[in-house]
Amino acid sequence: MKQILIIGGGSIGERHVRCFQKTGRADVVLCETNDDLRQRIGDLYGLSNSFASLDDALTERFDGAVICTPAQLHVPMAQQLVERRIATLIEKPLSISVDGVGDLLTAVHGQQLPVSVAYVMRQHPALVEMKNALDRQDFGRPVQVVYTGGQHFPFYRPAYRDIYYKKHETGGGAIQDALTHVMNTAEWIVGPVTRLVADAEHCVLDGVNVEDTVHVITRHEAVLGSFSLNQHQPVSESRLTIVCERGAARFEGHHSRWLSSSKPDGPWQVENDFTLERDDLFARQADAFLDQIDGKALPACTLDEALQTLKVCLAALESVRTKQWVQI
Ligand SMILES: NC(=O)c1ccc[n+]([C@@H]2O[C@H](COP(=O)([O-])OP(=O)(O)OC[C@H]3O[C@@H](n4cnc5c(N)ncnc54)[C@H](O)[C@@H]3O)[C@@H](O)[C@H]2O)c1
Repeated sequence: MKQILIIGGGSIGERHVRCFQKTGRADVVLCETNDDLRQRIGDLYGLSNSFASLDDALTERFDGAVICTPAQLHVPMAQQLVERRIATLIEKPLSISVDGVGDLLTAVHGQQLPVSVAYVMRQHPALVEMKNALDRQDFGRPVQVVYTGGQHFPFYRPAYRDIYYKKHETGGGAIQDALTHVMNTAEWIVGPVTRLVADAEHCVLDGVNVEDTVHVITRHEAVLGSFSLNQHQPVSESRLTIVCERGAARFEGHHSRWLSSSKPDGPWQVENDFTLERDDLFARQADAFLDQIDGKALPACTLDEALQTLKVCLAALESVRTKQWVQI
């Protein structure tokens, strides 16, 4: 059994506690500053131990840790863990600025420590299959990526006004909170964004000022991209289409499936669909991280890839402010 420390026992931290336990490979310990929450999660999941601060927790020895605190704390906490040679899984987004990321990268590469960033869509079996087909060039060279998606964020996070989401400085707003997942997925599939222009606005969500609606036009070298996303439409949907020279592939997150089309005027063909519970991707992510600690797997998302996605999101925020294209 691996000793795994979950840092931050809020919404995603509790899910990580549960999903690491589900692997049957981890003894989970919690670090959470909120006494009531720490007590509740400790009792609910029968945790062997818990701590009120990271400094206290680090008096013990852990094989791995998962950082589930608001984004402005991710890099300093990761630095602390890496200095103690603890394998680290960092929740998205990597940070809210690039400050400290260079030092973290140097420390991680220098020690060859297992570190990964929790862009959980990389665990989606439909996306993995679709990426494999695209990597094989089954439809030829990708030329265009088109994303449309939205969901009613208050329905899923009724407390959105009181958590990290309410401010950019804590990782909030549609760009840092939601678009980051989509950009990371798109970059994984068609390569890094090289320049972009973005438009965003706070349109609907009560009690916050951050953007809840965003449009981005991207370039990934030769590939052209467009992304539109909101956090208030009633129906939850997520559709990523990769148009290639000889056909197209489409991921539909809301149906957990991927499709293809290669005949002009023909229909979309369902390639594969999956029945997934919300926890399933996180349990896979936990297994992947434990495999990485065991030296049996590479990071699902490297620090360098997460840094690139961070730069894209920061560039999107800059473009919204300046109304200009931004080079990455
Ligand atoms: N991958 C996903 O699908 C996903 C989903 C939700 C959130 N997230 C990300 O996870 C992070 C946390 O989000 P959340 O929704 O769980 O937030 P949250 O507010 O529900 O939980 C954060 C927790 O961290 C605790 N905390 C704050 N400072 C701490 C410290 N110094 N030491 C220990 N605990 C501390 C808080 O008390 C709180 O309980 C964010 O970066 C968010 O973007 C990812």
